[in-house]
Amino acid sequence: MARPSAAPRLILGIETSCDETAAAVITPDGRILSNIVSSQADLHARYGGVVPEVASRRHLELVTPVVQNALAEADTTLDDVGLLGVTAGPGLIGALLVGVAAAKAIAWARRLPLAAVDHLQGHVASLYLEPDAIAPPFLCLLASGGHTLLLDVQDRGKRPRVLGTTLDDAAGEAFDKGARLLGLAYPGGAEIDRVARDGDPTAYDFPVARVPGLDFSFSGLKTALLYAVKKLQPDELERRRADLAASYQRAIVRALVQRTEQAAGEIGGGKVAAVGGVAANSELRASLPDATAAPLALCTDNAAMIASAARFTEAIPYPGYLALDAYASTA
Ligand code: KG4
Ligand code: ZN
Repeated sequence: MARPSAAPRLILGIETSCDETAAAVITPDGRILSNIVSSQADLHARYGGVVPEVASRRHLELVTPVVQNALAEADTTLDDVGLLGVTAGPGLIGALLVGVAAAKAIAWARRLPLAAVDHLQGHVASLYLEPDAIAPPFLCLLASGGHTLLLDVQDRGKRPRVLGTTLDDAAGEAFDKGARLLGLAYPGGAEIDRVARDGDPTAYDFPVARVPGLDFSFSGLKTALLYAVKKLQPDELERRRADLAASYQRAIVRALVQRTEQAAGEIGGGKVAAVGGVAANSELRASLPDATAAPLALCTDNAAMIASAARFTEAIPYPGYLALDAYASTA
């Protein structure tokens, strides 16, 4: 008797570029079957930021169980996987190497191809997952802990043109550093977002940096917050924390929104999208009502977006990827 036609081969994604150990299984047409993210945030909170060596060691402990969870939750096995995608960079090199080594080992054992995914392309590819997938062309604001970019995305498989970037801190970094000055827990973006809900965004007039073109700058803003905090006694800081958080958040969001709208105007309108951890920010989402923001669960680092990008990245056939290396930054 003829067997029913084989199920489409699934894609297994692995992401370990920073402090999230993540694995996901998706279908070739972009449906998420599982998306497991094991955050190490608690582990790093006591240091007020990610400690690279600690992150690498934790990835090593977590990567195998997280991959097993992703397969189990997708109700599948490696027998159904046809392609692996792994973040090769940019990120913390020791952390990246754990994911790359795990992906190589699985792909090699199964004689499968492996796609070396760029983390930033991964964030953009969070928009290509169902049920809310959008297709290029679109203008993309990518705001994360490591990057702030305005991208002209013309094609899923090609590197987008960079229209603007930050001259100093990334938007997420500005959130994290600001949270630290305010005595809020790491990771700071979500904390500022939460605390700001009870504050007055007009209480403090923090500056939006004026830099030429479509670039961003957040370091002056951080310094302004530092001076505002320094003027306060501890009990006053306690009372003004929500106002400071709300005003600071508004300044970051205004900078992001102004530049995004300016860029949209310059490239002649069209669709606008927002991705990356900072795209989870409630005020940013509300301030870009006509933009497509990535679903909340796909804003911060995850492996579904990496599996998604793997579909549009040329895969390295078995066993060529054994020589694959990770990279900390894009040249
Ligand atoms: O994309 P992501 O998970 O990692 C990187 O690739 O960097 O982004 C993490 C960043 C952190 O800086 C974090 O504070 C920020 O995203 N973030 C937020 C929110 N949730 C996460 N920033 C503002 N509001 C949020 N709700
Ligand atoms: Zn990221």
